[in-house]
Amino acid sequence: MKKVILWASALLICSGILGVTGFAQTSDHAVDKEGHQWWQHAVFYEIYPRSFADSNNDGIGDLKGIASKLDYLKDLGVDAIWISPCFPSPQVDFGYDVSDYENIDPMYGTLADFDVLASEAKKRNIRIILDFVVNHSSDQHKWFLDSKSSRASAHRDWYIWRDGKGPGEPPNNWVSTFGGSAWKFDPTTNQYYYHFFYTEQPDLNWRNPAVKDAMFGIEAWWYKRGVSGFRLDAVDTLFEDPKLQDNPILHPGMNAFGDPYEDNKNNTKLPEVHDVLRGLRKVADEHNAVLIGETWTADVAELNRYYGDGNNELQLPMDFLFTTVNKLSPPEFRKQIAAVDGASGWPTFVISNHDIVRSYDRYGDGEHNDQIAKVMAALYLTLRGTPIMYYGEEIGMKTTPPTSKEEVKDPIGRTGWPKEKGRDGERTPMQWDGTVNAGFSKAAPWLPVPPTYETHTVAGELKDHNSVLEFYRKVLKLRHDNTALLDGNYKALNETDDNVLSYLRIYKDHGTVVALNMTNTPQKISIGLKGNGFASVKGLLATEKSGANGDDVSLEPFGVFIGELSK
Ligand code: NOJ
Repeated sequence: MKKVILWASALLICSGILGVTGFAQTSDHAVDKEGHQWWQHAVFYEIYPRSFADSNNDGIGDLKGIASKLDYLKDLGVDAIWISPCFPSPQVDFGYDVSDYENIDPMYGTLADFDVLASEAKKRNIRIILDFVVNHSSDQHKWFLDSKSSRASAHRDWYIWRDGKGPGEPPNNWVSTFGGSAWKFDPTTNQYYYHFFYTEQPDLNWRNPAVKDAMFGIEAWWYKRGVSGFRLDAVDTLFEDPKLQDNPILHPGMNAFGDPYEDNKNNTKLPEVHDVLRGLRKVADEHNAVLIGETWTADVAELNRYYGDGNNELQLPMDFLFTTVNKLSPPEFRKQIAAVDGASGWPTFVISNHDIVRSYDRYGDGEHNDQIAKVMAALYLTLRGTPIMYYGEEIGMKTTPPTSKEEVKDPIGRTGWPKEKGRDGERTPMQWDGTVNAGFSKAAPWLPVPPTYETHTVAGELKDHNSVLEFYRKVLKLRHDNTALLDGNYKALNETDDNVLSYLRIYKDHGTVVALNMTNTPQKISIGLKGNGFASVKGLLATEKSGANGDDVSLEPFGVFIGELSK
């Protein structure tokens, strides 16, 4: 099974409870008198715009499509949508190659459509988060076109240009995470430019103050247009060693692209990144906005650095370590939860996104996938921290990779085939109903609709009280209404149990217990009510045959029990 894609592993190789005072600098924006911020109580939902809803029937999703689904999202329990890049782009990396940061790609609509989406979302108390591709632009961006035109151009130093080591030899051994050398020779000026991702994604030179000013300006421009924050793309790779020292080779052999395995120590996670993050955060704080980071951290020490000293960098660096637990393993989850719970900032939990295999099949055993999807929902939506959902996860969408190289749309799937099949499988159209193309579009969608639309759609699952979707709706409702789930401390229970993951969330006098059976056999746990200062438990949400009796909780195979504790 493909795990996290290659650059993620490359980045990983390289490298108490949050007191109310941690947010002192924005306490005037708190949502309660305890000082909690809106983004601590919000549930985020990632939308891959190409695949969510197609209003003009051209086979590609768009902003009007998203607007038409706001009621669905509100009803589901979503408070903020993160829209993956929808800016003008040649779409080499499906939007992660931006050619104009302050506009909307015509395939998704117009700025006017964005304004309508923003105001419709606001009416429903849904915030909009955009994806800020800070590491690189498209090679078609006017900055790069000018930069490459001559060594003396106004934007020359906005990108990283260097002489080769010799004829036909790039400046050093760095490889692109998407395959091949990270340097591309440009004959117009006889120099190489640097690109960590595709050749069409030249890295911006963040050492140039003009680049900083331009990017901070773009950030503020969108806040003024109604955006409530950004997911910052690829922050690990913003800086490179100015001496361009070669990267060490980790071990012999070649990756899926035929490149050596390098330790990216000279082109990822350089300390200068934090200076930029503090700058972006300063602008964010002026607008009560949130910064979510695509941060591939190897441990909690690295995660802590992304929160910044005094929580002045990212409020929500994503904890992808959680996604590296690829089996239903209580000990493994316990370890990761404890680690992030002890971090210096507020935790963020993600189980799926547009770059990794969907959680439905990462954890599914092929037989009990729907039950397991419920276990996973009950897990990451009841932990102390902010969850970021991925579209389709709530209906149990399955990763459906291409079956032949010819079908592949994601370029890395073509260069890496068959070892790396690319990311098409986790980006297939949202399965709305049983009509043509699962109700996503009347035209042939850009990626095929998976056959599972026959069993898993929004419309079908809304009618089935036992569906994955109904379970998500219930957990999300509980999460919004239950103080202990929103703000409570995390306390692990039964820490040596290999089968059941159980924990308490405690906030003042309020207590909630969560017990998750991660096996296909019935299990029992004991809550330890007395020892934890409580007298009784009452069920709040449980799968069909799971329940509590006194101190004991019985769980059916892959059963879930969530209960309220009383003194
Ligand atoms: C991370 C994004 O999530 C991924 O989809 C993209 O290909 C790379 N950054 C490059 O922008």
